[in-house]
Amino acid sequence: MRVSIIGSGYVGLVTGACLGETGNTVVCMDKDAQKIERLKEGELPFHEPGLATLVQKNLAEGRLSFTTDVQLTVRHGQVIFLAVGTPPRTNGEANLSAVEEAARAIGLHMDGPKVIVTKSTVPVGTVERVKALVGEKASHRFSVVSNPEFLKEGTAVQDFMRPDRVILGGDDAEAIALLRALYAPFMRREDRILVMDAPSAELTKYAANAMLAVRISFMNEIAGLCERVGANVEQVRRGLGSDSRIGNSFLFAGTGFGGSCFPKDLAALLHLGESYDLDLRTVRATLEANRAQKRVLLHKVRREFGEYLDGRVFAVWGLAFKPGTDDMREAPAVEIIEGLLARGAEVRATDPAALEAARQIFGNRIVLDRDAYALLEGADALVLVTEWNEYRFPDFERIRDLIRKPVLFDGRNIWSRSLVEGLGFTYHGIGT
Ligand SMILES: NC(=O)c1ccc[n+]([C@@H]2O[C@H](COP(=O)([O-])OP(=O)(O)OC[C@H]3O[C@@H](n4cnc5c(N)ncnc54)[C@H](O)[C@@H]3O)[C@@H](O)[C@H]2O)c1
Repeated sequence: MRVSIIGSGYVGLVTGACLGETGNTVVCMDKDAQKIERLKEGELPFHEPGLATLVQKNLAEGRLSFTTDVQLTVRHGQVIFLAVGTPPRTNGEANLSAVEEAARAIGLHMDGPKVIVTKSTVPVGTVERVKALVGEKASHRFSVVSNPEFLKEGTAVQDFMRPDRVILGGDDAEAIALLRALYAPFMRREDRILVMDAPSAELTKYAANAMLAVRISFMNEIAGLCERVGANVEQVRRGLGSDSRIGNSFLFAGTGFGGSCFPKDLAALLHLGESYDLDLRTVRATLEANRAQKRVLLHKVRREFGEYLDGRVFAVWGLAFKPGTDDMREAPAVEIIEGLLARGAEVRATDPAALEAARQIFGNRIVLDRDAYALLEGADALVLVTEWNEYRFPDFERIRDLIRKPVLFDGRNIWSRSLVEGLGFTYHGIGT
């Protein structure tokens, strides 16, 4: 099949590469010329495990190409995916201007029938909006289907290739059949395609993210309570998660959720509710709880070192909003580092993938180093923010020898309190 993708970020590029891998001829378009130039050389503009190999292979075999030319892109695809960004406006509402721009371009340049697929996370009613915008100039038959994406950064290729489900929202049987065929290679063991009306598909994506975020915020609150009452959130988590009605995913306490999706999508969901005069209280509370949680490590630092941190040096391990990505959008590390800097501390930080992203945010206000141990020399404490695998079993004796004060703030509960306390560290976890 001939497939076009408008917007070649995390979602667009993974979609393009995976659909190329199953034999389709895919054109990926982006308005960011620098990104496209790098992609033409097989170079990824971001970190995503397994994606570079897939892009390079499909590029070399001629199934994947990159362009900034929207006309060429629109003409190429029988199916056109919209995977542009939908960032939040200041009131939380999703900014649909990139989706709208792409829809207008499709209407303008189409030279045959098209199936247009909204893969970006978009509020209810966007399929109708896209239909209207394409329709202003369209000279051929087209239909619009909602196909929200559920991939997770860090395991995006695997998630796309083996999805829990693929949701198709629309009422054009022919378009749905075409998309069923496109997704068939990823459904070989069992059909996991759910067809529904477009508003339900659009809302499912927001509801899924909100549900996952609710679980995280709930556990973070339980962690706070554990600290007050002398319980251990890790034990509570096991006790809770083993209940088959609850399950054990998304129950880890930590420094709050970040990333490009949860905070933005919950804000957009709240805004959607408000625009229908409905206060989504659980969603509001989840966002509030998360804002507070992002400051939890700072409170712990204050309790240990006092209000003013002039002259103190903090080493931070892990900057990306989660392991496996270089994405620092809404990352808890940003809030924590800004809080330390505001109190006069010096910050030295490392991350296996996000050093460049961190440089964009902090410039030379903090020291960035690839070597996690080099940062520790003379530091007052080590603050673990992102639980990359390489931080799970560090050389604690080496850490103790390098660091000025043997204090660990473990924002993800990945270290054993008894082990590190046995080595002479003061340990602060979350709810443990
Ligand atoms: N990142 C995720 O984990 C994830 C998961 C599921 C859904 N989503 C949703 O998918 C959408 C895209 O997310 P992302 O993380 O890939 O974003 P991203 O910022 O990585 O990529 C978006 C791309 O769209 C490009 N773009 C913007 N306007 C354009 C235009 N008019 N024409 C062509 N290209 C344009 C940008 O240059 C950028 O490269 C968002 O709605 C997001 O909420 C993201």
